[in-house]
Amino acid sequence: MADKSGFCFGVKRAVDLVLKTQQKYKKPIYTLGPLIHNNDVIEFLKSKDIYSIDIEEIENLKKDDVVIIRSHGIPLCIFERLRIKELKIIDATCPYVSNIHKKVKKYHELGYQIVIVGDKDHPEVTGINGWCENSAIIGKDEESLNNINNKVCVVSQTTEKEINWQKALNYIIKNSKEIVAFNTICSATDIRQKSAENLSKIVDTMIVIGGKHSSNTTKLYEICKNNCKYTVHIENKKELPTLLLENKDINTIGITAGASTPDWIIQEVVNCLK
Ligand code: F3S
Repeated sequence: MADKSGFCFGVKRAVDLVLKTQQKYKKPIYTLGPLIHNNDVIEFLKSKDIYSIDIEEIENLKKDDVVIIRSHGIPLCIFERLRIKELKIIDATCPYVSNIHKKVKKYHELGYQIVIVGDKDHPEVTGINGWCENSAIIGKDEESLNNINNKVCVVSQTTEKEINWQKALNYIIKNSKEIVAFNTICSATDIRQKSAENLSKIVDTMIVIGGKHSSNTTKLYEICKNNCKYTVHIENKKELPTLLLENKDINTIGITAGASTPDWIIQEVVNCLK
């Protein structure tokens, strides 16, 4: 097993909070988007009367309905919409993400152009962009960053790769004059990536467990694949590649899991392999 894998602090906090909230109100609870990118967890939550809704569905909610903001956070204007509808808002935004929101808002108001090093369609990035009136330049290569001003404030998606952050920053340093940069890559991501990288160098095959739509799991997969050609990304034990595991050349198996993969799914895979 990679030293560090599975639920990070922010995701664990969000899952605990949503379960506690359900117990308190004992009625259907709504999360704005899937609480985490893991289908098994989403099914588990549905069985507890906790449902994921899209932003557009806010209009169908009624006064005092309970709505949870997931760890990715949301744009400021969506908070306003929830308040206007007089919903009960439970904010499970990861404190590390809220910290980015505060910085982005502050520097936007001070006249800096905000640059987010990350994936423009990722909900965390869309959320961050909503704290500077959707004015951020988003990307990580020269092409996406080629319109930057002379005065910029740079932050990163919490799950971004360190190497992408460094490349983007180097480009910005060459093309801008006044730069405030916050490396907001979460250490949970970094620690998981390094520990997966180390393990993938010494095993014959690497199994990465996590949702297919989870960006941090996909990044773990890419890192491991660079070192270990027999790297597979599975969501749960049902997807274990039996043919690969029957290969007689494979003696050691490394396992890692994304920050949105619960312990019980990891344990099921381990038991199956045993
Ligand atoms: Fe928060 Fe880091 Fe997890 S930003 S949600 S603790 S990956």
